Amino acid sequence: MSHIYEALQRAEAERKSATHELVDSSSSLNSTIAFQPSAEPSDGVMVLAETAPASAVEALFLQDIPRRPWHPSFDRLPGLQKNGAGVEQFRSLRSRLQEFRDLKSLKSLLVSSGMPQEGKSFIAANLALNLARHKNSKVLLIDGDMRCSSLHQYLGCDCNPGLADYLSGKASLVEVMQYAEEVKDRDPMISAVLNNLAFIPGGDGGDRAADLSGSKRFDELLTTAAPYFDWIVVDSPPVLLVSDAVNLARSCDAVLLVARAGVTTFPVAQRAQYELKASNIIGFVLNAVDKPAITESYYYRYDGKTE
Ligand SMILES: Nc1ncnc2c1ncn2[C@@H]1O[C@H](COP(=O)(O)OP(=O)(O)O)[C@@H](O)[C@H]1O
Ligand SMILES: [Mg+2]
Repeated sequence: MSHIYEALQRAEAERKSATHELVDSSSSLNSTIAFQPSAEPSDGVMVLAETAPASAVEALFLQDIPRRPWHPSFDRLPGLQKNGAGVEQFRSLRSRLQEFRDLKSLKSLLVSSGMPQEGKSFIAANLALNLARHKNSKVLLIDGDMRCSSLHQYLGCDCNPGLADYLSGKASLVEVMQYAEEVKDRDPMISAVLNNLAFIPGGDGGDRAADLSGSKRFDELLTTAAPYFDWIVVDSPPVLLVSDAVNLARSCDAVLLVARAGVTTFPVAQRAQYELKASNIIGFVLNAVDKPAITESYYYRYDGKTE
C-alpha cells in the first residue's frame, strides 16, 4: 500500500504548507479509494446465499425482524441520492470490494480508523446503502461503536435495543435488528434500497463495550447472519483510543481503513494499520478529498448534469 502512504504523506505536507489548517468538506462527499488487488479482477456477480449452512448458530427468520420508523438524514447520505459525485464514489468503492470478493471470500467488513471524526460512520452508512442499491443485494449494517453510536442518527431511527443488548445476552438477534417501515409516498428508488438494508444499532454499551466487543457472541452473530446477507458492514470505534475495534476486526473477514484528507496525519494512519495488523486490511478510503477526481467531471458530462 505504498502509494497510499505516499498520498497521505503528500496530503500532510500540503496541509502543513497551507495557511488554513481546516478543510471544509461538509458540503459533499469526495472519497478516494486506494486499493491494490493482488491479481487481475474478474467480472463480479453478487450472489445471495439462500440456504443457511448447518454451522449456523441459530436460525434467523428475516420475516420476524421488526419494521421501525426511519427518517434518513439525506444531507449526510449521498449514498441515497439518485446520482451525483457521492453516488459515483461509493459505486466505485463497491466495485473495488467486488473485485476483492472475486479473489477471496469477503462478506463481513469492518470500517475503522485511528481517531474519531475521520468518517468511519459516514463511510459505513453510505457504503451499506450503496451496496443495497444493487437489486437483490441484502445488506446488514451494524453499529459496532457501542460507546458512541451514531448510525441511528444517519438513518433516523432508534438506537435501542442494539448490539450491546445482544452481546450481553439481554436480547435475541431478531430483537435487535430492524428494517425500515414502509412509507407510502417515499421515492420508490429509496424504498427499494431501504428494503434491502437491515440494521443493528449500537445500543448502550457504555463502559462494558470492551468486554462486549470481545465476546464470542459477536462471532456467533456474524455466523448466524452471514447466510442471509450478501454484505455485512460493521462500523467501529477509533482503534487508537479503545480496544473494541481490534476485537470486532478479529471476527470480520476484512477491514477497510478510513483516513480523512486534511485531518488524518500519516503517523495516525500508520498506527491504525499497525494496531489492526492481525486482521485482513484490504485498503484505505481517503475520505473528504477536496479536489474532485477526473472521473467526476466525466460523470457529469456523460450525465448531462451540472450540479
Ligand atoms: N466525505 C464527507 N463529506 C461530508 N461530511 C462528512 C464526510 N465524512 C464525514 N463527514 C461528517 O463528519 C462528521 C464525522 O464523521 P463520522 O463518520 O461521524 O466520523 P467517525 O465515525 O470516524 O467518528 C459527521 O458529521 C459526518 O457526517
Ligand atoms: Mg463513528
